[in-house]
Amino acid sequence: MSSEIFKDNLLKGQTVFITGASSGINKGIAERFAEHGANIVVIARDPKKLELACSEIQSKGDGKCIGLVSDVRDYPSMEKCAAKAAEKFGKIDIVIAGAAGNFLAPAEEMSANAFSAVIDIDLKGTYHTFRACYQHLNSRARLIAISAPQAQQPQCLQSHVCSAKAGVEMLVKTLAKEWGGIEGARVNALVPGYVEGTVGIDVMSGAGNSDGSNVINDLCIPKSITAKEMGDIALMMVSPAASFMTGHVLAYDGGIAVGTTERLQIPDRL
Ligand code: COA
Repeated sequence: MSSEIFKDNLLKGQTVFITGASSGINKGIAERFAEHGANIVVIARDPKKLELACSEIQSKGDGKCIGLVSDVRDYPSMEKCAAKAAEKFGKIDIVIAGAAGNFLAPAEEMSANAFSAVIDIDLKGTYHTFRACYQHLNSRARLIAISAPQAQQPQCLQSHVCSAKAGVEMLVKTLAKEWGGIEGARVNALVPGYVEGTVGIDVMSGAGNSDGSNVINDLCIPKSITAKEMGDIALMMVSPAASFMTGHVLAYDGGIAVGTTERLQIPDRL
């Protein structure tokens, strides 16, 4: 029996424009969309990684996958990529703004340029991606920004990412209003939990801590998930099942958003 939970070829012939999909969560999403017949345009910085990723993505389905080298910080280059995508596959149906940068650094120690680098990649890069695609969007296009728990939960050593992702979530809500309407776009954000094989899980879960602590053990659903599973939820978001969802931030995170399961001790006097 097939383990497929969606109708076959849900995205057949549709054009997907996705940034940062050479690896990790975004590649998982691209592969899942490819399995459902989409033509995929991947934007990434490193040509070698991009080429390899595209051949792997294309092998998942009947559609095509092409890679275009660009940095999401470079708006003119992103405009050229969006135009090439539309020229190659026709109007763009789905945009995933997934490219992101992160490192742990105290606010008082990182340089102003370091802070800017993350704002430029995560927040401005998301705007650049959506804005560059705007004039090439098909009717009822679906746009998803990949956000992070840091948008809602302040975290030490993450002032740049918390600020950038909070901006991303407000951008999504604003664009849902501006670009919505009868034939308009649905614009949403997706917040991943701890995803296997990503830089994020190593850095943010504490998996490498010498004391053995790992926050994944204290989640409501104490496990990590695969990039493919993130692809499943993204597929749901772009499918007709979510046709009434816009301006929404969807956390698919095992409960990170509500915090850990740790309980206070009940004092004896109560
Ligand atoms: N700690 C403190 N500052 C850092 C840093 C770190 N770990 N990494 C980069 N910076 C600073 C740089 O020193 C530079 O500031 P400066 O000019 O004042 O020295 C600034 O950030 C830009 O860095 P640079 O490496 O020139 O930029 P970049 O555009 O090539 O890369 C990142 C920026 C965020 C992508 C890079 O730090 C990186 O590769 N991070 C790890 C990979 C990653 O982010 N993966 C995605 C996870 S979601």
